[in-house]
Amino acid sequence: MIKQIQIQNFRSVRNLELELDNLNIVFGPNGCGKSNIYKAIQLLSAAANGNFSQFLSEEGGLENVMWSGQAALTSRAKKRMLLSCETTDYEYELQVGFPEPLVSMFNLDPKFKEEHIWLSGHRRRPSACVLQRKYSAAFLTNVNGEKSTYSKTIYENESVFGQLSDPHLYPEVSQVRESMRNWRFYHEFNISRHSALRIPQVGYRSPVLASDGSNLAAAFQTLVEIGGVKEMEEILDSAFPDCRFFVENERSRFTLLMQKRGLIRPLSTAELSDGTLRFLCLTVALLSPRPPAFIALNEPENSLHPQMLPALAKLIIEASRYTQIWLTSHSPVLAELIGKEIAFRFYELENNDGETKIREQNF
Ligand SMILES: Nc1ncnc2c1ncn2[C@@H]1O[C@H](COP(=O)(O)OP(=O)(O)OP(=O)(O)O)[C@@H](O)[C@H]1O
Ligand SMILES: [Mg+2]
Repeated sequence: MIKQIQIQNFRSVRNLELELDNLNIVFGPNGCGKSNIYKAIQLLSAAANGNFSQFLSEEGGLENVMWSGQAALTSRAKKRMLLSCETTDYEYELQVGFPEPLVSMFNLDPKFKEEHIWLSGHRRRPSACVLQRKYSAAFLTNVNGEKSTYSKTIYENESVFGQLSDPHLYPEVSQVRESMRNWRFYHEFNISRHSALRIPQVGYRSPVLASDGSNLAAAFQTLVEIGGVKEMEEILDSAFPDCRFFVENERSRFTLLMQKRGLIRPLSTAELSDGTLRFLCLTVALLSPRPPAFIALNEPENSLHPQMLPALAKLIIEASRYTQIWLTSHSPVLAELIGKEIAFRFYELENNDGETKIREQNF
């Protein structure tokens, strides 16, 4: 479980430390920094996946991403963005800064200045450090418990995680990597008219819904065949009381269908409403038969009618039995419905002079 996240100099966040519980709900007005925090957590996972640079470049590069408040007028060479997380087992921290100007055309790439992993509960003592990286030099604890300098090349634009050619020799580092790679993020499902989700898809077992929902039919059928179907049926019955959902297989191409009372034929995903598809995606994502350690949801209530909120609350409560949840929302009703059943940590944020601040931490 993630116990704490620290973010420095990432978009509107100058410096925030957030303690996390099993279920965390984040509120605040438009532009206060909710999605920025969501993305900062996503960046930690991107580092573990070896695509930190790509993710950052897609966000406009370090120049755009670095906090640009008044107090940020320090020299470019000294500016750093810091992300760290402390879990029950380990602490991971990365610090990136700007590359030297005019050395390369890849000026969106960040430069990893420091990267550390400590075993949890040792207050970052040097003896608990299993990875220490400065620029392109890395010092790691190997499978025999010995600390040694990594002899192969480490590129400065990416995390150490994706660059170890022999990860089995560094079991602690590999464990941390696997745990962070397993986090899942759901923001916007691609439900546009010609999206993959609306057309028949090749059916292969999919215990995890893709972040854009593109494998919805396959993930739905996986849930039906390998567990969780009872919970799914209950939730879909309460959200759509006069409908039944099932998958049709035509030469291994799967289509999710909805049979609605009063209609003489089932409707395919191409014909379903945006809100219905979003809710189906959330259901399949949150009831995954391979629950991840952590799921972040960014405004899942978007485009759902208020009468769907009890079913959404049920879904989140059910998922939180197996998974730690970070939920960004604009709906006090959703939080109240969840709060009737289980406890959660509540953060209300505000944007003060261009800086995201915690306004309240109770509900
Ligand atoms: N580099 C930066 N430095 C300072 N502030 C930034 C930077 N980049 C973006 N911002 C600010 O971050 C804010 C957007 O934050 P974010 O998208 O997290 O809002 P939100 O709370 O998710 O809002 P919404 O409810 O509308 O989705 C904007 O106000 C923008 O001005
Ligand atoms: Mg947002």
